Amino acid sequence: MIRQSAFTAEPWSLRETELNLDLLAQTESVFALSNGHLGWRGNLDEGEPHGLPGTYLNGVHALRPLPYAEAGYGFPESGQTVINVTNGKMVRLFVDDEPFDVRYGELRAHERLLDFREGVLSRRAEWVSPAGRAVRVSSTRMVSFTQRAIAAVCYEVEPLEEPARIAVQSELLANEQLPPAGGDPRVAAMLENPLTSEFYSADAATVVLVHQTASSGLRVGAAMDHQIDCPAGVHVESRAYPDGGIVTATMVLQPGQRLRVIKFVGYGWSGERSLTAVRDQVWAALSGARQTGWDGLLAEQRAYLDDFWDKADVEIDGDTEIQQAVRFGLFHVLQAGARAENRAIPAKGLTGPGYDGHAFWDTEAFVLPVLTMTVPRAAASALRWRHSTLPLAIERAAQLGLKGAAFPWRTIAGQECSAYWPAGTAAFHVNADIADAVIRYVDATGDKAFDHGPGMDLLTQTARLWRSLGHHDAQGRFHIDGVTGPDEYSAVADNNVYTNLMASQNLVAAADAAQRYPDRARELGIDVEESAGWRDAARAIFIPYDESLGVHPQAEGFTRHQAWDFAGTSEEQYPLLLHFPYFDLYRKQVVKQADLVLAMHVCGEAFTAEQKVRNFDYYEPLTVRDSSLSACTQAVMAAEVGHLDLAFDYLGEAALMDLRDLENNTRDGVHIASLAGAWIALVGGFGGLRHRDGMVSFAPRLPEGLARLAFSLLLRGRRLRVEVTHSEARYVLAEGEPLGILHHGKKVHVLHGKPQVRAIPAAPAAGPVPSQPPGRAPMHRGEGDHAG
Ligand code: BGC
Repeated sequence: MIRQSAFTAEPWSLRETELNLDLLAQTESVFALSNGHLGWRGNLDEGEPHGLPGTYLNGVHALRPLPYAEAGYGFPESGQTVINVTNGKMVRLFVDDEPFDVRYGELRAHERLLDFREGVLSRRAEWVSPAGRAVRVSSTRMVSFTQRAIAAVCYEVEPLEEPARIAVQSELLANEQLPPAGGDPRVAAMLENPLTSEFYSADAATVVLVHQTASSGLRVGAAMDHQIDCPAGVHVESRAYPDGGIVTATMVLQPGQRLRVIKFVGYGWSGERSLTAVRDQVWAALSGARQTGWDGLLAEQRAYLDDFWDKADVEIDGDTEIQQAVRFGLFHVLQAGARAENRAIPAKGLTGPGYDGHAFWDTEAFVLPVLTMTVPRAAASALRWRHSTLPLAIERAAQLGLKGAAFPWRTIAGQECSAYWPAGTAAFHVNADIADAVIRYVDATGDKAFDHGPGMDLLTQTARLWRSLGHHDAQGRFHIDGVTGPDEYSAVADNNVYTNLMASQNLVAAADAAQRYPDRARELGIDVEESAGWRDAARAIFIPYDESLGVHPQAEGFTRHQAWDFAGTSEEQYPLLLHFPYFDLYRKQVVKQADLVLAMHVCGEAFTAEQKVRNFDYYEPLTVRDSSLSACTQAVMAAEVGHLDLAFDYLGEAALMDLRDLENNTRDGVHIASLAGAWIALVGGFGGLRHRDGMVSFAPRLPEGLARLAFSLLLRGRRLRVEVTHSEARYVLAEGEPLGILHHGKKVHVLHGKPQVRAIPAAPAAGPVPSQPPGRAPMHRGEGDHAG
């Protein structure tokens, strides 16, 4: 876990004022830069020491066999694993022949700063070599949002007290040695030497390398070029070899003189294009970057981020640490999705190899609700990626004996990569999550072309899946049996409430789309009977209810199961999945992550207010949050049922997941869904945003810990700004046509230039605050935590 003091609380940046080698792997994830296409972990410039070196290109993966002790029909045979591609971040420094390495000599000062507005990671160090030569080193690094193939570094060094011979060595390195992976199943299966050299060349200060992935046949190109600025007498040489390239600049510097090396790195990859095409592509990318120049790249980055923050910022008063964490989270969500451009948004973005670089339902259920209302372009492109994998999902459904499309539980390129079917194949809800993201996207943007094209395809094929997966019983009720819901500590259960409600929405949305677009319906072969069948199934969906307890079992039979022995479980035994067999988890009442509580958030209209209170009280003492995809949902529902301070603690957990390394696995990459969850907790929890069937409603109410909350939403060409204090909410239409919304259930008409102010009604009396399993209460931050 990272102590709070690892970073200073500042609203627009993340600053680490001293280097703690024990936290190197975590800070590499936290300081990772990415644009959704290219990702550089926050490794030190000189490459060593490192926790885990990482350079990723979205979609570049290796294949590995998925071995089974006992094989079964329909088990995926091949897994996809993200690979560490050519490292272009590295800049080594030699001071009078001694390598700058923070483990040797004396590190007088070391600071790193991630600036959310500039979009750069900067580093300042003062180091005295073992021979006593003092130097000041500074570097600024960026992965460009505007030129997605480009990353760049500005590296500067100056001797402090005495002259020194300085060599700055800039590298490209493929097949880097990686530290061994541990036994945690959530860690990537790391592959040794995943790249085979196809081409290398060095010329002046430029190096180009092209490799191919051995197993998946993808071609990866990387090139670097340099601008070297120094007083005089610099000697520059370059060389290349199959797995690397080096450009070295050497000179003797006097105190007060500075050597500045600007490094431009271009990347490209393809599964189709030839060696020369990929090589030329990275050259072209480099030319573009050179033409823009370092200052130009910085200016473009700032402009891109100014526009982003203008639309997406969430301001809070009263808690600098949470303010910082929320912006940190939004910055990483943007980094994960900004330029993914029809590729997946992996659970860790491009910040680490955790979960093998796979994308899960995390994207549609947690990340896209945020991007849809802040960077809709990025949401559309993530959904277009899903759409591009539709043929594979249709094939998979057929293999499973089902109609329509069965999207994978985890994947990079679209094929199912989960080797554990009870929590993979059986987690069919991912299909409804995709449909839900389509519905929200179309509703929030009014993007007709998407709706008519990919949107309708996705809704149709997922509806077909549900219709063939479920069945009507003798009374006509529609059941979906033997599926796994969001809670992975239960599996293969009948009528999971979340799944059933989401499937029913999916079925209705598909039938509506068929009505809206008869041309497409004909093309997709949807006849009247099929769409009527969808509506029938949706109408007749079975939602189990436990009359004796007055609560919804998350799936049939759940509330009858034996309770987990929480009192006999020690804090060290969490996460339970690493200490207990699934067989035991499955047959007891213990919840890994919000499931029924998530249903109450996203399908709120299916529950009465009283049911929400009772259900929330019931599931709190059972929910252990062994997944980072839980706190934000619990925040939203805690706020809705009136436990605002508990909601605030859950917000803290979602927002600080990686800044505090709450799950002890930030080293493998940041938790993008949890970081998106900070926005969800604030906007959905304390703003009370619900977005359903074309209606946007708010029920704002702040916890003690916050004095003010302000956020903006993009809605069908409008920009709505919402500002909330303890006493009132102010709705301002910053752009666009008038808009009708609901404020605590009452209609408000918002016009441009006419802010609407409404009082916050008194909160209904809430019962006692429910407790969590022993040791699993969300972190309650003390007084000192909140200050800046
Ligand atoms: C959660 C899943 C999630 C996955 C990737 C698991 O621990 O249970 O819901 O999709 O992590 O974040």
